Amino acid sequence: MRLEKVTALVTGANSGIGQAVCSHFRREGARLVLTGRREQLDSARPEDVYVPGDLNDEAFVESLARQASETFGTVDAVVLNHGLQVSSPLTEMAYDDAKNVLHSNLLSSFLVMKHFAPLMPATGGSFVCVSSRLGMVGKSEEVLYSAAKGGLIMLAKGAAIEWAPRNIRVNVVAPGLTATPVIEASFQRRSDPEATRRQREGQIPLQRLATPEEVADAVLFLASSESSYITGAVLPVDGGYTAF
Ligand SMILES: NC(=O)c1ccc[n+]([C@@H]2O[C@H](COP(=O)([O-])OP(=O)(O)OC[C@H]3O[C@@H](n4cnc5c(N)ncnc54)[C@H](OP(=O)(O)O)[C@@H]3O)[C@@H](O)[C@H]2O)c1
Repeated sequence: MRLEKVTALVTGANSGIGQAVCSHFRREGARLVLTGRREQLDSARPEDVYVPGDLNDEAFVESLARQASETFGTVDAVVLNHGLQVSSPLTEMAYDDAKNVLHSNLLSSFLVMKHFAPLMPATGGSFVCVSSRLGMVGKSEEVLYSAAKGGLIMLAKGAAIEWAPRNIRVNVVAPGLTATPVIEASFQRRSDPEATRRQREGQIPLQRLATPEEVADAVLFLASSESSYITGAVLPVDGGYTAF
C-alpha cells in the first residue's frame, strides 16, 4: 500500500492512535503535515511539517491549510483523528464541557474539512474521520461524546455525497476501546485497574482492547487508493462491540 506520492495531514498526531497512524503513513512513504496542541512533536522526522495549535480556532485551521499549501501545494489525504472525551451524567455535565466536547470532536472537524477540501488535487482525495463505537451506540455518562461522534459520522456521509463529483472520498473509522495512554490512564485512576480492564474486555466479543496499530491499519486502507470505490462508509474496528 505505497503512499510515496501522497501528502497527508494527520490531526491529533501527538499520541495514541494518531502516533500509530503517523508511523503507518511514514512506513508507506507519505509526506506528512502533522498537528496537535503540544508545542513539539518528539516523533516527527525532519521532513515532517508540524504545526501546533487548537483546531477549534478557525484562524489557526486557515493558517495550517496555508502552511500545508505553501510547503506541498496539494494535500491528498486528511486523517481527522483529534478528539476528546468528558464523561459525566447528563444532568451534571457543565455547559462549557459539553461545548468543548462538541467543538473538539465535531465542529473542529468541519473546519478542517472546509479548509482542506480546496487543497485536494483535481483528481480527488480522501478524508478519514476517526469517530468511535459510541458514535453508533449510546452509553451512560458518554451522552455528549456519543452525540459528537455520531454527528461526525453524519458530517462525513453528507460531505461524501457533496464531494463525490470531485472524487473526494469521505469515510469513517469507528474504533472500540483502544489501548492508548489516555485509556490506560483512565484504568489507573480506578481503585482496581486490573479488575476494570477485565470488566471492559469482557464487554467486547473479541475479549480484548484494540491496539492503536489495528485502528491505524483501517485508517491507512481508507486513505489509500485500495479503497478507491468506498465513500460515505463507516468501518467499525471494535472487536464486534457494535455487532450486537
Ligand atoms: N482510545 C480509544 O479507546 C478510542 C475509542 C474510540 C475512539 N477514539 C477516538 O480516537 C481518537 C484518538 O484517540 P486517542 O485514544 O489516541 O486519544 P488521545 O491520545 O487523547 O489523542 C487525541 C488527540 O487529539 C488532540 N486534540 C483534542 N482536541 C483538540 C483540539 N481542539 N485541537 C487540536 N488537537 C486536539 C489531542 O491533543 P493534546 O494532547 O495536545 O490535547 C490529542 O493529541 C480520538 O478522536 C478519540 O475520540 C479513541
